[in-house]
Amino acid sequence: MLKIGSLTLDLPFILAPMAGITDLPFRMICRRFGCELAFVEMTSAKALVYENRKTEKMIATRPDDRPLGIQLLGTDQEFILKALDIIRKYEYDIIDFNAACPVTKVTSKGEGSGMMKEPRKLGRLLKAIVDHTDTPVTVKIRAGWNERSVNAREVALYAQDAGIKGLFIHGRTREQGYSGRVDYNVIREVKEALDIPVIGSGDVFSPLHVKKMFDETGCDGVAIARGSFGNPWIFRETAGFLKDGVIPPRPDIQEVADIMADHLKSIASYHGRVTTPVVFRKLFAWYIKGFRDVKPLKERAFRAKTTDEMLALITEFGENASYSQKAESVSDNLLEL
Ligand SMILES: Cc1cc2nc3c(=O)[nH]c(=O)nc-3n(C[C@H](O)[C@H](O)[C@H](O)COP(=O)(O)O)c2cc1C
Repeated sequence: MLKIGSLTLDLPFILAPMAGITDLPFRMICRRFGCELAFVEMTSAKALVYENRKTEKMIATRPDDRPLGIQLLGTDQEFILKALDIIRKYEYDIIDFNAACPVTKVTSKGEGSGMMKEPRKLGRLLKAIVDHTDTPVTVKIRAGWNERSVNAREVALYAQDAGIKGLFIHGRTREQGYSGRVDYNVIREVKEALDIPVIGSGDVFSPLHVKKMFDETGCDGVAIARGSFGNPWIFRETAGFLKDGVIPPRPDIQEVADIMADHLKSIASYHGRVTTPVVFRKLFAWYIKGFRDVKPLKERAFRAKTTDEMLALITEFGENASYSQKAESVSDNLLEL
């Protein structure tokens, strides 16, 4: 169980917010396999205030897409508070504030992980957010800006003083981006310093990585990010593993193909059929990873021009036993830590 303010989750793992990835179709596929809390894609407070149509579509949800958090990005208090007023109607379960995004376009404005350089300012902003909403507020931070300024503990203490109800930490510095290994020590230090729940993030690609994050850091919850790419089953497998110590069997090829087809169709109804083949390309590649002899199929998927063409390739994949799963993707993929 994991409690973040008024929100109680049965399972202590979460689908991490991921820009360009965790749209409504992606979240709903993960929810089928037991994902509880998910986040809409990172949302700029300014974009929301200017009523950017794309932004409103991005944060759209539906009644069974619950519990759901939104993650706001910004540095200007006025815009952030206005954004909170705009999103009130969606009744999100969590409002997270992004102090972790490493993208230069974002940090050059002092936003995202740029906030790690200004812990006091971050604290003040979080306090203003907490005072402005009844929804539990959390923050997502990184280990620090770079290896010479690992200040997650200090930042986390300012954030806690502001009255937030939980803290997400990606155990890499901004300079690391997504490379190198996650630093469990910094997550542990933050966990030990705080009284609120700490949710660890970084290098979580299997149920064993989830357990490792708990064991190494003592954190209260774990965020699953890249480990969910083409692998919504990670939620089912993690729940099984944490409960019984046994990882449920990997899906067979037909189950993978069925989920791919459902995912494709929901993307078509959400994004529109014209852009669907382009949106689905990377997902196609992620789903078939770990199966034998799929390179030519993947190349054809990258050239597919229509949703029907993509669907035909998925059917071909599901019906062709020669694309058997590599043994190592069933075992090593889960065991490699
Ligand atoms: C494509 C992509 C987009 C991401 N977008 C966000 C984001 O919008 N907000 C955020 O807090 N983290 C974002 N992240 C970071 C993840 O939530 C997570 O902290 C990070 O990937 C580390 O976990 P992992 O090593 O298990 O993937 C993103 C990561 C990826 C790969």
